[in-house]
Amino acid sequence: MGGPDDAAGESGESFLSERSAKVFVAGHRGLVGSAIVRKLQQLGFANLVLRTHAELDLTRQSDVEEFFAAEKPRFVILAAAKVGGIHANNTYPADFISINLQIQTNVIDSAHRHGVKKLLFLGSSCIYPKFAPQPILEDALLTGPLEPTNEWYAVAKIAGIKMCQAYRIQYGWDAISGMPTNLYGPNDNFHPENSHVLPALMRRFHEAKVRGAKEVVVWGTGSPLREFLHVDDLADAVVFLMEKYSGSGHVNVGSGKEVTIKELAELVKDVVGFEGQLVWDSSKPDGTPRKLMDSSKLASLGWMPKISLKEGLCDTYKWYLENVKQ
Ligand SMILES: NC(=O)c1ccc[n+]([C@@H]2O[C@H](COP(=O)([O-])OP(=O)(O)OC[C@H]3O[C@@H](n4cnc5c(N)ncnc54)[C@H](OP(=O)(O)O)[C@@H]3O)[C@@H](O)[C@H]2O)c1
Repeated sequence: MGGPDDAAGESGESFLSERSAKVFVAGHRGLVGSAIVRKLQQLGFANLVLRTHAELDLTRQSDVEEFFAAEKPRFVILAAAKVGGIHANNTYPADFISINLQIQTNVIDSAHRHGVKKLLFLGSSCIYPKFAPQPILEDALLTGPLEPTNEWYAVAKIAGIKMCQAYRIQYGWDAISGMPTNLYGPNDNFHPENSHVLPALMRRFHEAKVRGAKEVVVWGTGSPLREFLHVDDLADAVVFLMEKYSGSGHVNVGSGKEVTIKELAELVKDVVGFEGQLVWDSSKPDGTPRKLMDSSKLASLGWMPKISLKEGLCDTYKWYLENVKQ
């Protein structure tokens, strides 16, 4: 942490002073990419380059190459990835490792060869060893075995971090990596079977409220501790890193605040306005007892999250009501 290697960029114009420059946000329709686009638009970035998956499949090397040759973006934020939960990772391990390796290899390499000034690669907290000391510091990377359920995805993401570092070493190219904690917010996946805990709880409480149900049963004891960050805070951190950070080490992006799943469920229940009972089925597994990232490196650079969990949940529920088919 914190060595000369991790200092902010020293020369050249900054990201924020180039608001008319072309910025390619890969994955702009996803949870993360869409928040980054909203943030850049708010800041007056007027030249965003966006392609849907159907318009540009980032696993196709020659198409990606052609795109960079034609568009020549100045900045790239890489938020396109194949993402999914434990079930999807277990069922499609080949897809998780190969699609992610292809997307990031194609984008990082073409971006470098076509004169992109700076690129930010996004990974996730699953890159860290299963038994990393908590809260998890950046230094824990590659110090132990990964959680087997998502190792395919994690290995691809670790390769992405290493690729950014290697291009920095060999070419002096400004490629950086950010590792966000669990995210939530507008454009999250509220699918009944394969969503993350927070949108899954929101959907279940909402549907129970609409049905007039007396109770909602949630798996486990509610005791595991988790960290959540609103995706608009992540987008703010991404802009901050593009502006201020040019080090080879990846940077954790978390809220630094832990809640138990029980506290989270009570908060979601409250925000949704479900008046029935919340029942814990302790015969079902709890999962990892604690998962918190240490985001002090980012804090020491001068960035802090702004959106409280309560505020973020209200915003997310509003989006759910307006956008998810009931
Ligand atoms: N969600 C979280 O809690 C979380 C936490 C930490 C880190 N992250 C990281 O943030 C990044 C984005 O995650 P997300 O949650 O925003 O995922 P997401 O909502 O699934 O968005 C991913 C985007 O990538 C696009 N994409 C996938 N494969 C593509 C391909 N071959 N060519 C072009 N576009 C493709 C998807 O388009 P289609 O849908 O059309 O395929 C989608 O728009 C990932 O690297 C993830 O690791 C997410």
